[in-house]
Amino acid sequence: MRIMVIGGGGREHAIIKKLKENPEVHKIYALPGNGGIARDATCVPIKATDIAAIVDFAVKTGVDYAVVAPDDPLVLGAVDALEAVGVPCFGPRASAAIIEGSKVFAKNLMKKYGIPTAAYETFDDMDAALSYLESAPLPTVIKADGLALGKGVTIAHTKEEAREAVISAMRDRKFGASGEKIVIEEFLTGPEVSVLAFTDGDTLIPMVSSMDHKCAYDGDTGPNTGGMGTIAPNPYYTPQIARLCMERIFMPTIQAMKLEGRPFKGCLYFGLMLTGDGPKVIEYNCRFGDPETQVVLPLLESDLLTVMQAVTNGTLGDIEVRFSDKCAACVVMASKGYPLSYEKGFEISIPEEAEGHVYVAGAAKEDGRLVTSGGRVLGVSAVADTLREAVDNAYKITETISFENAFYRRDIGARALRAGEN
Ligand code: AMP
Ligand code: GLY
Repeated sequence: MRIMVIGGGGREHAIIKKLKENPEVHKIYALPGNGGIARDATCVPIKATDIAAIVDFAVKTGVDYAVVAPDDPLVLGAVDALEAVGVPCFGPRASAAIIEGSKVFAKNLMKKYGIPTAAYETFDDMDAALSYLESAPLPTVIKADGLALGKGVTIAHTKEEAREAVISAMRDRKFGASGEKIVIEEFLTGPEVSVLAFTDGDTLIPMVSSMDHKCAYDGDTGPNTGGMGTIAPNPYYTPQIARLCMERIFMPTIQAMKLEGRPFKGCLYFGLMLTGDGPKVIEYNCRFGDPETQVVLPLLESDLLTVMQAVTNGTLGDIEVRFSDKCAACVVMASKGYPLSYEKGFEISIPEEAEGHVYVAGAAKEDGRLVTSGGRVLGVSAVADTLREAVDNAYKITETISFENAFYRRDIGARALRAGEN
């Protein structure tokens, strides 16, 4: 079987390594992949957003199945375009990917169907937004409607910060068309949990819960990033909370999407906050999380391709999806300066024993050498019986890997370990 995976980060590397465990998978193409993914797949230099070229490649190569991993091609309709030429896909169509592509859509969906989320107002007029801010409680949360490379959310602690966020999105078009509309919402507090779920539109099977570490520096300080590390399972996500989420959030969401004529098939990501008032949705993503995937898929015991095909075929209810009861941790090694400015082109040295633990996010092949090419460079993952061991092992392996200007957080999992002790 020939499979095509769209995307080129650590998440895609984790998906590819897992797909390779199925003996029927003879060939995997990664579009575009990266220098590290090239060890596990044939990389094809086609951008993940170049839908026409992706479709053309799929047809010419006779690809049997496609996995569309990143948000932008999903929102742009990569799945619709591939299905139109007869390529079965894992991932939602554009009509369902809008759950991530438009925060206004997502918030209105939750309101209409009574799914718990932060109270909010939406605006397409800057003056109306600014005048609303005059009486909005602080801190207040301002979100660009569309995709904004993870940078579209501002938590404003002062009225001035809030005004600046609105003006930079709506007048200065900091996020282009993505900021033409905005959501202003209530600031919530509580532990955050990421839950990825397989769904075929009718059946939904949550994966192991996880915890991201979004701040760049130790102690949850510094700028927001794409994610500096993850652990799974998330100790705050108790079986009781999981049941509550299934009843009040997960099933109502997929039923709502179906009722709206937008059945969601693929991986639906629930970004949750466990507030004093119960779990609430902070965000939906229409895809696997990065770096959540790098701890969740290593714990999947069932065959990933079988599960994905069941999602595509609408037969998820007929299969069993098993996860190990072990724990996993992933430490992201980044380039010094990330998420702001950083240098690229440093040679990466990975000992052979560490290879199996490394998911490559931002690296290129140059003259046979693996060199850094992005902000987040590697995700180093380990699985063990306890979270403590998984974290310790991930750090031990991380210390054997080197590249100039490497930096990583030293406290991935620390908060989860503290929570687990209570
Ligand atoms: P995002 O860029 O959508 O992943 O959001 C970034 C982070 O902003 C989330 O992980 C939360 O920590 C935080 N956040 C988003 N919405 C809220 C909210 N309503 N209240 C408090 N924190 C929030
Ligand atoms: N780790 C957060 C995300 O994938 O959006």
